[in-house]
Amino acid sequence: MKKRNNNVWLWVLVPLLYACSTQDEKETTIINSVQLEHSILSVSKEAAGLQVPWDLQYDHINHAILFSEIGGSIRRLDIRTKNVILVDSLKDVYHQRTLGLLGMSLYQPEHEQAYLYLSYTSKSDSLIFSNLYRYDYSLEGNLSNPKLLLQIPGNTGHNGSRVIVSTDKKVYWATGDAASDTFAQDSSSLNGKILRLNLDGTIPADNPITNSYVYAWGFRNMQGLTHNANGTIYTSEHGDAIEDEINLIQPLKNYGWPQIEGMIDTEKEKAIAKLSARQEPIKSWTPVVAPSGMAYYGNHNIPEWKNSLILATLKNQSLRILKLSADGKKITDENVLFKDQFGRLRSVLVVPNGDIYFCSSNRDWNPQKGFPKPDDDVIYRLRLSTKATAPIIKPEASISVVPTVKNGQTLYDAYCASCHKSDGKGLKNTFPSLAQSESVNGEHKTLLKLLLNGLSGQEIKGIKYEGAMPAFSFLKDEEVIEIANYIRTHFGNNASTINQQNLTSLR
Ligand code: HEC
Repeated sequence: MKKRNNNVWLWVLVPLLYACSTQDEKETTIINSVQLEHSILSVSKEAAGLQVPWDLQYDHINHAILFSEIGGSIRRLDIRTKNVILVDSLKDVYHQRTLGLLGMSLYQPEHEQAYLYLSYTSKSDSLIFSNLYRYDYSLEGNLSNPKLLLQIPGNTGHNGSRVIVSTDKKVYWATGDAASDTFAQDSSSLNGKILRLNLDGTIPADNPITNSYVYAWGFRNMQGLTHNANGTIYTSEHGDAIEDEINLIQPLKNYGWPQIEGMIDTEKEKAIAKLSARQEPIKSWTPVVAPSGMAYYGNHNIPEWKNSLILATLKNQSLRILKLSADGKKITDENVLFKDQFGRLRSVLVVPNGDIYFCSSNRDWNPQKGFPKPDDDVIYRLRLSTKATAPIIKPEASISVVPTVKNGQTLYDAYCASCHKSDGKGLKNTFPSLAQSESVNGEHKTLLKLLLNGLSGQEIKGIKYEGAMPAFSFLKDEEVIEIANYIRTHFGNNASTINQQNLTSLR
């Protein structure tokens, strides 16, 4: 009898608390209204002027959004007042390009010590590391008592990484392959893996490999990690020049990288998968979209999105709603929102009342055309609304963006412009300019070889580039030729055109 009374109180209290908390909220301007089949959502800017927020977490005690910034700060946005305060700034974070303070996970159980798990890059002497730390998180939201749970090799790229605490009260850490050719397929290396740890960092007794953190393997560079209410885990992962992926994570499965890119669809890949089982992604994209943070939406609030993965993309500059099948094993539909509107999007968070927070990443290492805007970076909110009060936008069904027109410019925009930019000028010290480039304008075979095989560690006009140029051998002959001739005759270049015979002998 007593128990029932308690429950009744909860039912009265929770909606009441929620009503209070939304009522005394400072209002933010609605930028857009999003029209779904039945529901209307409002989009607002909740915080601006941020420096590459990387992960968003919900602090239910302080009713706030806790977020990391890549340079090493941890800050908190009060949902009611919209005040942003600095919680801590970590001194030993090594930040450059894609390296720095990355994923984090706030674990706030009832009546127990709360923890903040952090994943970040550090450097000592010339060595780069990825670290998983645990801090105590006080009721007031202060950090103390740092504990290094794991340290693994890092590199100038491919460091992952996200961290979650799933329904089984275990910590899952999605690590990058540190640009190594061997780590992801080596079950004794902790790179290119999903690692599973107890809350205190020890190895769980029920891990699939005795005395090992390794839970699943064969990954390149995961940038999104989330779970649903049953503890089913999903990741998003960057492919090289092709096949970005969404994976459903199962213990001890091998997801194939670097032997298999995306789907098992070439003869070579099929032969490898025949020798020992390989897991296919539940979704892959070519051309790549650069999928980043991802959150499972299980709330009733927006019925159209119930049982979806909400994904932020960087290169594609969009928020994508990936509808899951009832059993969660397939993606049945894909819708695209905000394409090119807010720039690169980094992270997504669903809070218990069904509101969705997401953030831009326009002040990072690879800003796209027209960005950053003066008030970047921004945390946005999507909230169910009763009416449209701002310009209406609608999600668009995703259409395959594989260019079917064999036109040099279309191909260049799809495969090259995210790095070398649509004007071919590249990005200072990051991507070489293709204007007056010797390899663009010189020997036919040199250029074609470079496009087919990619390039890394080359010094160009006195600059050594840290990132690599991906290999484009998956393109058809005529597509390679179109691209080559496009870059030889644009951006102020005026070199002779190449014909297909030059290519045949190079494959
Ligand atoms: C992910 C980013 C990225 C993409 C996509 C990319 N490149 Fe590159 N590219 C680079 C980097 C980084 C280098 C320098 C590599 C080095 O020096 O080791 C480079 C180098 C080059 C060079 C040599 C320039 C010189 O002056 O020597 C050419 C030519 C080139 N890229 C053309 C292309 C074309 C054409 C495409 C599209 C088919 C493309 N790239 C796609 C990153 C990229």
